[in-house]
Amino acid sequence: MKVLETIAEFRRIRTTLPEPLGFVPTMGYLHEGHLSLVRRARAENASVAVSIFVNPTQFSPSEDLDSYPRDMEGDLSLLKKENVDVVFAPPADEMYPPVFSSCVEVDKLTRRLEGASRPGHFTGVTTVVTKLFNIVQPTRVYFGQKDAQQAIVIKKMVADLDMNLEVVVLPTVREEDGLALSSRNSYLNHDERQAAPVLYRALMLAQGFWSQGERDAGKLRNQMAKLIGKEPLATIDYISISDNDTLEELKEIKPPALVSLAVKIGKTRLIDNVVLE
Ligand code: PAJ
Repeated sequence: MKVLETIAEFRRIRTTLPEPLGFVPTMGYLHEGHLSLVRRARAENASVAVSIFVNPTQFSPSEDLDSYPRDMEGDLSLLKKENVDVVFAPPADEMYPPVFSSCVEVDKLTRRLEGASRPGHFTGVTTVVTKLFNIVQPTRVYFGQKDAQQAIVIKKMVADLDMNLEVVVLPTVREEDGLALSSRNSYLNHDERQAAPVLYRALMLAQGFWSQGERDAGKLRNQMAKLIGKEPLATIDYISISDNDTLEELKEIKPPALVSLAVKIGKTRLIDNVVLE
């Protein structure tokens, strides 16, 4: 497994990698969610590249860029076991030299949900992902349903800008109690970890009402908020039931609908979602 830190080195190696190439962009501190993407990329392609880059432009000044968990050595040993061919792990100034002046922006979709709570976040994501796609030149790219809006925004960008690659979105990997795996789970103390599955329980509550024939989105949002309200460590940022293509909020649920939420557990902001089919 080669580990490269510069764009020039990656480009040199790229010409030697057999096609098709599967690519998994990450911010590192890898867990089974990331590895599920890597395994699928391995199964479907002749070569596999993974990037590890904590992208500063997708964090606002008040967010957790400096404290974001990092473990390069641990990550590389996990990726080696998965038979990854190349890891691209650039320093920040390799991706963003001092006078960097461009960005890629997807309109509309990015104003909702995470975009409403985290202004500028998706411009950071789509800009870095475009750069990574241009550097890596992948055939297929792999994203997790865990970040549902991110996957939808990336698909839209790829379609709008005629990027010549296939976007594959894979299911959320969870702990036994339903908590979606996330690098940010490492921030949770013991009590917060006990409280964190409330996100999944709220999603399952919505799914249950839906299965029993409830179509009033407002009722589902209220029931979810009531359940989360009972958890003293939890503070709701948003609870949304939206059209899974446009992300517009729904009054009456029509499938496929995305039920998504962002909740702070203590100081840690967690997100999760399910799709009602
Ligand atoms: P990161 O949070 O490291 O996630 C990398 C990929 O792993 C994303 O596609 C994410 O949806 C997926 N993932 C995370 N947790 C998962 C889980 N529990 N199950 C399945 N997949 C999961 O998302 C980013 O990094 C960044 O925004 C990035 C796209 C790399 C751009 O900087």
